[in-house]
Amino acid sequence: MDRFLTADDLAKTLRRDVRDGLTADPKTLPPKWFYDERGSVLFEEITALEEYYPTRREREILTARAAEIAALTGARTLLELGAGSGEKTRLLLDALGGTLRSYVPVDVSGDFLSGAAAAIAADHPGITVRPVVADYEQHLHLLPTGDRRLVAFLGGTIGNMAPAERAGFLGGLRATMGEGDALLLGADLVKDPARLVRAYDDAAGVTAEFNRNVLHVVNRELAADFDPGAFEHVAAWNAAEEWIEMRLRSTRDQTVRIGGLDLAVEFAAGEETRTEISAKFRRERLEREMAAAGLALAEMWTDAAGDFSLCLARPA
Ligand code: SAH
Ligand code: AVI
Repeated sequence: MDRFLTADDLAKTLRRDVRDGLTADPKTLPPKWFYDERGSVLFEEITALEEYYPTRREREILTARAAEIAALTGARTLLELGAGSGEKTRLLLDALGGTLRSYVPVDVSGDFLSGAAAAIAADHPGITVRPVVADYEQHLHLLPTGDRRLVAFLGGTIGNMAPAERAGFLGGLRATMGEGDALLLGADLVKDPARLVRAYDDAAGVTAEFNRNVLHVVNRELAADFDPGAFEHVAAWNAAEEWIEMRLRSTRDQTVRIGGLDLAVEFAAGEETRTEISAKFRRERLEREMAAAGLALAEMWTDAAGDFSLCLARPA
């Protein structure tokens, strides 16, 4: 497994993110830190929840379009950013069988990635599977290039970046793309806010546990003493920005000590720390943001209900 993100880099970035985020007003923590092994497993549980439609919808689109994607791209390398379990990606690997030589899943969640990649390699003996532990916000330029690459960024994870981060990410990705390359981007669509909130606040409380997992990560990695039970899960629709916000609301006045940063952080009762945004898109925005990055939208497929979209884009 290639590692562009060492344990040392991870520790350094986490320290910076936690110090910056918890000394800011309002407080924030980046969603990247949900995903230790437990966080990745919790995310997989979320994908099976009745309320969480994105995974099912994207699978529906991939099932219908994988052969077309294979014909349109003739990809020899499939590079997948934020691959997670890669379960849906198997549909692409099967369809691309005629041309595909290698699959490069990229993720920050190293242990989970290595298990997922081994399972995929066992089921696809004709393909070289080369997992890479990297941060797609920092290491795009280090990832393999050329060779008719199809870069997949599925699940709607693009929505977890703020608009300025998205612009940097898309521009950075475009800079690594050659003429024969293509981008396959999963993006969740704007819809009834009540459905959106349910998808991020499920009845069984799995998303709440996923949200609080960031506190477990900070406790373990930075010797902090968060009491995760003293933070409530909040999911709210921000209509102006058209994104879901996940927050952790302090249930009481409390002081949390973060030994690894030599920092004490005060939380007032009711104070909220934003842990994730999950932006929902309209076609115009996707087209505009891609064009600004030098990418031309070639196809935009949706599921039958029009909940989720899968876009194929090429260098403009
Ligand atoms: N693509 C999968 C998983 C989505 S969950 C799906 O569609 O179901 C988001 C994934 O992105 C997680 O596996 C997480 O570990 C990874 N991730 C989050 N931030 C990342 C970053 N900055 N760099 C690389 N991977 C990241
Ligand atoms: C990974 N990402 C697309 C998920 C989302 O829907 O924004 C993460 C998630 N957060 C809460 N539930 C799922």
